[in-house]
Amino acid sequence: MATKTSAKSSAGKATKTSASANGRAGGKSAQGLSTKATATRGDIDSPITLAKNGTDAVQPVLNQQENSPRVLQRYGTVSQRLPIGLDDATRQESVDMLNQLLADTITLRDLYKKHHWQVVGPTFYQLHLLYDKHYEEQSTLVDTIAERIQILGGISLAMAPDIAEATSIPRPPRDREEAPVQVSRLLEAHEIILNECHEYAKRSADSGDDGTNDLVVSQVIRTNEMQVWFLSEHLVDTPLARS
Ligand SMILES: [Fe+2]
Repeated sequence: MATKTSAKSSAGKATKTSASANGRAGGKSAQGLSTKATATRGDIDSPITLAKNGTDAVQPVLNQQENSPRVLQRYGTVSQRLPIGLDDATRQESVDMLNQLLADTITLRDLYKKHHWQVVGPTFYQLHLLYDKHYEEQSTLVDTIAERIQILGGISLAMAPDIAEATSIPRPPRDREEAPVQVSRLLEAHEIILNECHEYAKRSADSGDDGTNDLVVSQVIRTNEMQVWFLSEHLVDTPLARS
């Protein structure tokens, strides 16, 4: 009796989806399809779902974060999950460096977006576009750095309050600033990151973490240096039309 009711109630609405999801769409009546499709997750004749109202089996179990105090891995620890030939001490040292670099790169990335939105003046168009280009390039670095931390068996910082605590880059005002001030502020942030990178490149070379060394040198340093060039030229006081 329960089977019959459930099949009937879901025949009109759910038949098509359920049937195709179970790969049983071929040539059966709508009501027949629905009965079988709703009942399955492996066993097409199971009475489990049909004994209820036909939807209980797909109800998500919500609010689990409030019930479970367990975490899978504590922040600040490293695991040997991935066999990449590096010992714990080397991994930990690299993860700590990379989390600092991550916090500063996220901050620089967001500084670019702030300036992208707030810039005004005769150079609006080029700076508006340049800031967004650099923002995208810094976003790519953010993901690369964070994923390197995972590969090393660590946990990357991620959320804004943690980034704000960790970053070495001074917090800018909420106010709109003049374009040359924006550029100067960005150059200062780049230099902070580049100084870190020179130290981290040396330390990761010394410890034998070649992957981190390559990331820092080939990607972070190269990208930041190029962006410094494109920014710095906006602060050179040259004549615009006549010398
Ligand atoms: Fe935009």
